[in-house]
Amino acid sequence: MANRILAMPLAAVLAVTAIATSIGPSEGYAETPGGGSLKAVSDFAAIADTGARSKAIFDEASRVLTHPRCINCHPATRSPTQGEDMHPHVPFIHASQSSLGPAGLVCSTCHGAENRPILGSRMKSIPGNAHWSLAPASMAWQGLTVGEICQQVKDTSRNGNRSHADLVRHMGEDHLVGWAWHPGEGRTQPPGSQETFAALIDAWVKTGAECPD
Ligand code: HEC
Ligand code: HEC
Repeated sequence: MANRILAMPLAAVLAVTAIATSIGPSEGYAETPGGGSLKAVSDFAAIADTGARSKAIFDEASRVLTHPRCINCHPATRSPTQGEDMHPHVPFIHASQSSLGPAGLVCSTCHGAENRPILGSRMKSIPGNAHWSLAPASMAWQGLTVGEICQQVKDTSRNGNRSHADLVRHMGEDHLVGWAWHPGEGRTQPPGSQETFAALIDAWVKTGAECPD
């Protein structure tokens, strides 16, 4: 399957993009399949040790952080990945100079401000958001363990100089984070909702922001 997508010539992708652009964003977009539920903060109340509780809460939140909707944009290299199987982006994109993509082929060439449905195609939609861009290299998550992602996220030298409070706000309110639960037809959502996810991050911070081993 990945190979078939990879074999699709650039011209075809661009043609498809052009068609989708002319259709424009749709109203009343069909809901994408949910990713199941996320445990609530109260589910961790029985863990008496605060540090252990903090780690367990981050573990649960990591079901979102490691979901393809998030880490396709937080790749190990400067190239985004796509789909549930995280195959290399088609066409190949290398965002070495700028998170907005290479000059002449920036993300917004194809990614609009909204998801765009594609009628009559195996690819059901092109994801979109006004701030669509690749996460900086210091925020790469693919290939890391959950403990390593946790350390990265709270390290101010790698997380965009965010305080713990900034992290709670970012996960709860950021548009790219929120997009994951409205990813457009043909893509699954991470578990839970942005609200339940942000509540877990808030509880993780309040219990000392401990990282799993
Ligand atoms: C030439 C057009 C084009 C350009 C330029 C482009 N993309 Fe894409 N991108 C697409 C298409 C089309 C898809 C949908 C593919 C699919 O669903 O099979 C996609 C999907 C993605 C996905 C996968 C979403 C998911 O979770 O499945 C990510 C992440 C992504 N693009 C990031 C980027 C970033 C970041 C940039 C700029 C650095 C960029 N793209 C530039 C066309 C493009
Ligand atoms: C379309 C690409 C894209 C998607 C999808 C995306 N992110 Fe990001 N993410 C970024 C970019 C770009 C930044 C850098 C923004 C900044 O520093 O202002 C970032 C930064 C972050 C940060 C800042 C702290 C750090 O060190 O990483 C967190 C946390 C984060 N994203 C979480 C998520 C989560 C959770 C999801 C999925 C629910 C997600 N992101 C989906 C592009 C994306």
